Amino acid sequence: MEKIAYVNGSYVPLSEAKVSVLDRGFLFADGIYEVAAVLDGKLVDNASHLARLERSVGEIRLELPETIARIQEIQKELVARNKLVNGMVYLEVTRGADTGRDFAFPKGVKPTLVMFTSEKDIVGAPSARTGINVITVPDIRWERRDIKSVALLAQVLAKQAAAEAGAGEAWMIEDGKVTEGGSSSAFILTQDDVIVTRQNGSEILPGCTRKAVVALAEERQLRVEERAFSIEEALAAKEAFITSASLFVQGVVAIDGKKVGNGKPGPMTDRLREIYVEFAKATAV
Ligand code: PDD
Repeated sequence: MEKIAYVNGSYVPLSEAKVSVLDRGFLFADGIYEVAAVLDGKLVDNASHLARLERSVGEIRLELPETIARIQEIQKELVARNKLVNGMVYLEVTRGADTGRDFAFPKGVKPTLVMFTSEKDIVGAPSARTGINVITVPDIRWERRDIKSVALLAQVLAKQAAAEAGAGEAWMIEDGKVTEGGSSSAFILTQDDVIVTRQNGSEILPGCTRKAVVALAEERQLRVEERAFSIEEALAAKEAFITSASLFVQGVVAIDGKKVGNGKPGPMTDRLREIYVEFAKATAV
């Protein structure tokens, strides 16, 4: 069965889903995206993703072409039409296609809204059991990483370098500290059992999974500190892990070829992963 995509009001076969070459997402990366997980046919933590979408579009003064409630309806319709059980819904909104290539905002142009789904067994992914290796790269991105913009060239290069090194993620480094992963938030567990992840700010994307994991950990009286950490601290830590909508919680077992902890996902990582999956299943819509 061919997958169905949503493009500006229509549900179309994925191979026929097209936008103009003049679309500002294509020309300028003038757009915002979101990725929400789907578990058992339901959207995971979607209110958090849609709240971040609203914030991101507000920061670049892009008006959504549909209400948030309608966007969720379209996401659900797409999950149903694709008979998606486990995977993700990708959505992107751009400032639309004008008649030429003017940098400033066009007037009277309707934003483009596109969505498609992909299948992935997030809970049963082998890397959830084995953990992943990460490499480090300099963080060469712009100064507004809190906006979930489709301008992802720095992350494309970082994750390609990771792939070529046989690693699953790249941790980006700025001023000697980890900002985040190419497409995930970064955490460590210190030797005295403090969960550390960088504080939100313009240096990182405010991860939805990060936010939920921090809240779930705090509810269970686990100690959490939101601050930057270095690679030296990560290598001296008990555990390290990453979070994102597309992988939930996964252990980091080596950084630049050096083992973290005993080189296996640790007990806290496994526990937080279980807690998150439980939360995801219980609250999915
Ligand atoms: N990436 N940091 C960056 C730079 C990201 O791109 C992502 C998500 C995260 C984690 O955020 P969340 O927990 O809300 O997924 C952190 C998505 C999954 C992607 O680009 O595919």
